[in-house]
Amino acid sequence: MSEYLTLAEASELIGKSKETLRRWDREGKLSAIREPMSNYRLYKKEEVEALFAAFVAQDMNEEVSNFVEAERDYTVLELFAGAGGLAVGMEKAGLKCVALNEIDKWACQTLRKNRPNWKVLEGDIKAFDFSEYHNKIDVVTGGFPCQAFSYAGKKLGLADARGTLFYEFARVVNEVNPPICIGENVRGLLSHEGGKTLEGMISILDEIGYNVVPVQVLKAIHYKVPQKRERLILVGIRKDIELQYEYPKPYKKVYNLRDALKKGELFDSHVPKSEGAKYPKSKKEVLDLVPQKGYWRDLPLEIQKSFMGGSFHLGGGKTGIARRIGWDEPCLTLTCSPAQKQTERCHPEETRPFTVREYARIQTFPDDWQFEGSIAQQYKQIGNAVPVNLGREVGYSIVKFLNQYYSLSKPK
Ligand SMILES: C[S@@+](CC[C@H](N)C(=O)[O-])C[C@H]1O[C@@H](n2cnc3c(N)ncnc32)[C@H](O)[C@@H]1O
Repeated sequence: MSEYLTLAEASELIGKSKETLRRWDREGKLSAIREPMSNYRLYKKEEVEALFAAFVAQDMNEEVSNFVEAERDYTVLELFAGAGGLAVGMEKAGLKCVALNEIDKWACQTLRKNRPNWKVLEGDIKAFDFSEYHNKIDVVTGGFPCQAFSYAGKKLGLADARGTLFYEFARVVNEVNPPICIGENVRGLLSHEGGKTLEGMISILDEIGYNVVPVQVLKAIHYKVPQKRERLILVGIRKDIELQYEYPKPYKKVYNLRDALKKGELFDSHVPKSEGAKYPKSKKEVLDLVPQKGYWRDLPLEIQKSFMGGSFHLGGGKTGIARRIGWDEPCLTLTCSPAQKQTERCHPEETRPFTVREYARIQTFPDDWQFEGSIAQQYKQIGNAVPVNLGREVGYSIVKFLNQYYSLSKPK
């Protein structure tokens, strides 16, 4: 009977439920025979394998693409712009940055250096009035730093959030009145204060006239980024607009560190040489002992204990500590400082942190995007950014929405 498979085996091989297979049997798509004694379904192995091969081929051919061409010149106001990860991504998607606000002087210099024509508004967002952009901007975007609200009443209103940077984001959206606004944040916002912070943000956007699309956390690895980074996306659609916003579709192909640093599909040359941080001698001696894709557990027990200190007894995987990244895996999330304690992401072959340009590649910044300030400032700007390729895919989703909006409605 080895040329036959049971229902359970066929279901596992093909990756479809037993119910689906029963239906396919009834419909004649994949016919089963009956085992004479038990009357159970049996499937010819070669037929199941042939069907499976057809699925794989279909999957490979299924060209997911979020690309869409902007039918007009769409305008963006980017808040909390940092070194421009999201802004460059949106630019690649065909959106035009009309103005960007950022408080950090080095990040502002980075933006000006690379895009002398961008209007960079340097300073605390609280000091800026954006009403000159009223009804003149298509999308307001911003990665506002997450802060707790103080709750006086049951439902949080805009005024209650005063003093927080989310308040400023919402205030600007209110002043500008764009058809769509997009906030980005870390996954932790979902559970911040037991979910109340996010709930508060949604109720504030509701109060100022925006419906919030169910929140999603996008995994950068599904959007052509060779890094396991996640970004929470908060999309508000102005209430007079009856259009569905669709998140960008995830791609099947996952890129790895080799794709980031070597010539290939993501970049057409090897990573350029650049400056970078070094590990102190004691840390280098420890990391020298860790193999590719290894971490602190690969160290001799005594070294594990001294390297981990108090964390040794805390349990949990902590696979990001003393980690050496492998060429064939996506990098772990980059932090704002590459030699930071207990978040080491060591180069696969050399015992050192990634250089500035390697950092930028892992965040999918183009090689010609320069960063200003000391090396520490440059790492910080890169580590804070939305990966450019993720920004581009989110950008396409905005373009798609705006194309529909302008084709269906008479804009305000
Ligand atoms: C997570 S980063 C944004 C990264 C950016 N979206 C990118 O993709 O590169 C948040 C930024 O908010 C800026 N920021 C913090 N407080 C601010 C304030 N009061 N006014 C303006 N910008 C501020 C920080 O300097 C930081 O660059």
